[in-house]
Amino acid sequence: MASSEENEMYSKKQWEGCMEIAVQTARTAGQVIREAFKHEKEVSTKSSPVDLVTETDRLVEDLIISSLREKYPSHRFIGEESSAAGEKCLLTDSPTWIIDPIDGTCNFIHSFPMVAVSIGFAVNKELEFGVIYHCLDENLYTARKGHGAFCNGIQLQVSKETADAFTHGDLQRLGCVNYASAAESLTITSHLKDGAQEDMSKALILTEIGAKRDPATLKIFSGNMERLLKAQVHGIRVIGSATLALCQVASGAADAYYQFGLHCWDIAAAAVIIREAGGNVIDTSGGPLDLMSRRIVAAGTVEMAHYIAQEIQTITYERDDHNAN
Ligand code: IPD
Repeated sequence: MASSEENEMYSKKQWEGCMEIAVQTARTAGQVIREAFKHEKEVSTKSSPVDLVTETDRLVEDLIISSLREKYPSHRFIGEESSAAGEKCLLTDSPTWIIDPIDGTCNFIHSFPMVAVSIGFAVNKELEFGVIYHCLDENLYTARKGHGAFCNGIQLQVSKETADAFTHGDLQRLGCVNYASAAESLTITSHLKDGAQEDMSKALILTEIGAKRDPATLKIFSGNMERLLKAQVHGIRVIGSATLALCQVASGAADAYYQFGLHCWDIAAAAVIIREAGGNVIDTSGGPLDLMSRRIVAAGTVEMAHYIAQEIQTITYERDDHNAN
């Protein structure tokens, strides 16, 4: 009989094979998107007039899920367009593929070349690997838990730009040092200096707008930007693709990312890639990331992640798993 260690080794090997398939599938999907990018798109709306979908989003999601399901019939799937069509968005302990067929649909419609396929994979609700393929630039971002993050085979490393905003006492008051089980928290105490001064002045920050455009939401959105701009950050960018923005953090081209209103398929693959590049992904409350909560702060350093989490005000969105039971 196989020991539990042997079983674990077997699973890890198995996930490695799944990741190879994810890479092939993302490349094939990317080819379809690249071709469709040149042509007129058939556009419809989903939850709001700015939540868009094209026939290519649906076609590519079908293509990805059907080819993966053929290989892994017992696995579960969460996909952006299947969820929009009413399928339950439920993360269980089963091996689960979390798919965004086209991240940056609005960009795709406008032929703005920031468009990606995102495939994340979780087992026992833990993210095991992530694959994000920038279809136009043909940059392939990959990471498997414990094995580093790469872009086209070159290892990624987050920037170490530090907010230096918190003393140890500040974080204790915020409750942040209680997250001993979260990977992110393990580095908190070692990074902090007592009496540290706030300095965001070298940071380049990315964010995305989200689908809600009512006046109250827009006020919070611009207030959040204003507070960071007042902290004299170098700049704030909105590129129209949450996954590619998160890949910029993993690459060290940007120092941080925050957003309310994104989905588990925007977060899953990117969270593994950022962690494996040495970065931090947390909830906007400062606690551990919750894949279904539709909010995130990601940063190269733990100080910067917590600084941003403390500065921004919450925009509430319905959880991805609201219809799961
Ligand atoms: C969206 C994009 C957008 C972000 C949204 C995402 P989609 O994904 O990443 O930049 O603001 O929250 O849902 O709809 O293009 O796949």
